Amino acid sequence: MSSMSNATAIAHPNIALVKYWGNRDDRLRLPAMGSISVTLAALSTRTRVSFDGGDEDRLILNGQAASEEARQRTARLLDLVRGMAGARGGALVESVNDFPTAAGLASSASGFAALALAATRAAGLDLGPRELSILARQGSGSAARSVFGGYVEMHRGERSDGLDSFAEPLASESALPLEVLVAVTEEGPKERSSQDGMALGRASSPFWDAWVSGAEADVGRMRASILAGDLAQVGALAEESCLKMHAVMLSTRPALIYLREASVAVILRVRALRKEGLPAWITMDAGPQVKVLTSPDRSAEVVAAVEAVPGVLRLIRSGLGPGVALVARDRTA
Ligand code: DP6
Repeated sequence: MSSMSNATAIAHPNIALVKYWGNRDDRLRLPAMGSISVTLAALSTRTRVSFDGGDEDRLILNGQAASEEARQRTARLLDLVRGMAGARGGALVESVNDFPTAAGLASSASGFAALALAATRAAGLDLGPRELSILARQGSGSAARSVFGGYVEMHRGERSDGLDSFAEPLASESALPLEVLVAVTEEGPKERSSQDGMALGRASSPFWDAWVSGAEADVGRMRASILAGDLAQVGALAEESCLKMHAVMLSTRPALIYLREASVAVILRVRALRKEGLPAWITMDAGPQVKVLTSPDRSAEVVAAVEAVPGVLRLIRSGLGPGVALVARDRTA
């Protein structure tokens, strides 16, 4: 590898419709269950990796030196890339998000998908999409899905080396047009990483085994509903998967309570909107924001209703977006 190779990639976060919450192997981040997500067009992470031959990897996040924890997590992914490329020497990683970092908006998903592509290209490697998904998974479980656009399915896999644990495109937006509204209820960073939270859940939630054993059927039902273009079924299953995951979180010791007053208010409002005949369903991740799934042709009415809920700071509207892509490449051999 030259001492001047760099590459820049853009990736979009994704929102899981059937949630991933639990590993069968923590070190390789092998999921205990498959999951299904949509990639969001309106939000993005842009990451530039430059192998500059420094002693240590450096991480600049949104223009500032990142925490030591974030730097080490990045360095571990770069170690995998250096291993594959037979390369040495540190990298400078500069990453910019156009949305709040670590507030339940899946910045790790877009961040590690962009990092996996930019770092491998900067190192002179040209991985196929499947290998890229496997690499991104080792940085963040949900990042394996942000490699692809539209509707995406992550496979649990059976192997202990993780080579069958990757994401794949499931359907394009034309199979089922969807709009996602992110109701932002709090802007700060979250306290605990999802990986730590799910490990605690496995160790302490009395509902854990039921959660894991029900996941395969949930994935199968969701896949069939997406492919059938059945929005009502997709919405109902997504809301169900989210509420089941939060039941596991609430029954974890110590309890993981991501619901805020405003989150609960949005959930109740959306359920009331359905009674009024509007297509709207909620999902949430390990943070206070609520994502509302709706149909693009009815979204104006849903937007007006959700914006009016007390405690909603702002609404981000998104359609489905593309997978990770390279935006610039500069290898001076
Ligand atoms: C709740 O392991 O991908 O978003 O610790 O931030 O890397 P990080 O998260 P990750 O877990 C994501 C869990 C989830 C549900 C999901 O996206 O499937």
